[in-house]
Amino acid sequence: MKTIGVLTSGGDAPGMNAAIRAVVRTAISLGMNVKGIKRGYSGLIDGEIIDLDARSVADIINRGGTMLYTARSGRFKTSEGIAAAIENCKKFGIEGIAVIGGDGSFRGARELSNRGIPCVGIPGTIDNDISSSDYTIGYDTAMNTALEMIDRIRDTAQSHDRCSVIEVMGRHAGYIAENVGIAVGATDILIPEIESNADEVISRILEAKANGKQHFIIVVAEGVGNVEGLAKEIMDKTGIDTRATILGHVQRGGNPTVLDRVRATQMGNAAVHLLYKGIGNRVVSYKGSKIVDFDINDALEMKKEIAFDKLTVARETSM
Ligand code: F6P
Repeated sequence: MKTIGVLTSGGDAPGMNAAIRAVVRTAISLGMNVKGIKRGYSGLIDGEIIDLDARSVADIINRGGTMLYTARSGRFKTSEGIAAAIENCKKFGIEGIAVIGGDGSFRGARELSNRGIPCVGIPGTIDNDISSSDYTIGYDTAMNTALEMIDRIRDTAQSHDRCSVIEVMGRHAGYIAENVGIAVGATDILIPEIESNADEVISRILEAKANGKQHFIIVVAEGVGNVEGLAKEIMDKTGIDTRATILGHVQRGGNPTVLDRVRATQMGNAAVHLLYKGIGNRVVSYKGSKIVDFDINDALEMKKEIAFDKLTVARETSM
């Protein structure tokens, strides 16, 4: 392969820039050219494609967001969209693509691979919900941001003897909620993988109150929803002054942590080595402390279970 492309797709995640940098510089080290495709698959369809050299990716390893912009492309799900994308690959001489994103982005990578443009996926999402990989780019930074925010909320909850119900990101996955919940000593943690009910949360709060606790943090993953409703119910049934906070997109920004920069660099590098050998339809993953890769079909079929035992640890250590 002489020329590869790189794109970011789906929700942005801190560390995506570090992955772009690794892709570009590894490719250059191996004697290849690199094209940056802007706004994910939308930019591929529209021909928003630029040349990248080693200096184009200087000073981005430390920056959140993605210098290539990102999008979720509805058009790429149509045969016309895919045809236009392939046409542009030919026009710009793109022989393979490193795709940084989540499951949806990998499905797109599979479409292109099946049509003669080998693609390699690099897991990038704060949610950590890519089954083939123990770790996804952005996850560590997002957790640390949520942690810092909740530590701040805790100061005010403590001062007012309040209960704070805090929603963290994760529409389908409770990884952020579970770990951040443990790290802030939450009285309860609600995740979409397990059915929860307000009465159980309330009885945990009352139990902790009976043990002398005067302020309470409840961490709720976005997929569970309705933090306002839960806060009201807690207030109505316990009489404890309760506030709800949705942390939202603050968790997607900011400078990536060491872990995110290092993993992004390793995975970006590994993806290019595959493309260099002409290998596509793979997803680079971090498994058991090693960088490995899987066939995209297998990767998309895999199931990853949240560590339910951690919830027990959380419960036994928060009282
Ligand atoms: O997948 C990453 C994520 O941040 C989820 O946690 C969240 O549910 C979703 O993206 C939000 O998407 P958007 O930025 O389109 O609102």
